[in-house]
Amino acid sequence: MWEGYEMPDKILTIGQMARRSGLPISTLHFYERRGLIASQRDDANRRVYRRETLRRVTVIKVAQRAGVTLAEIERALSHLPTDTVPNTADWERLSTIWHDDLTARIETLTALRDKMAICIGCGCLSVDRCALANPEDRLGKEGPGARYIGG
Ligand code: FES
Repeated sequence: MWEGYEMPDKILTIGQMARRSGLPISTLHFYERRGLIASQRDDANRRVYRRETLRRVTVIKVAQRAGVTLAEIERALSHLPTDTVPNTADWERLSTIWHDDLTARIETLTALRDKMAICIGCGCLSVDRCALANPEDRLGKEGPGARYIGG
């Protein structure tokens, strides 16, 4: 068992974690199976978490709401300590990892929204004219005519 277990205010049961985080117990189990959080068993064989784990769960929730994939979250959290409260530098490193990715995603979605405005009321989805149907016009850059004939 963890050091400090004798201090019950430092330990949360899975029910307490679920209430405090607003997540179902099944989600906490899922996070644990993915290695995002860790628990131990107390003397009564109950699953218990360090209080710091609640902060990790909050980070996971916020990141998922921002569209960060679970794989990206796993990668980022693997750089954070599991046995102590992450410090300011830890959080700064984490936010830096996601900042560029979120910025790129926002730019992509903004461009998509703007292109969609052109298409509203049109519906042609023409590969020649429509930026949504043919967003990068990759084959168009290779010149006119069919590209895949005979393949
Ligand atoms: S649907 Fe016609 S231009 Fe996109």
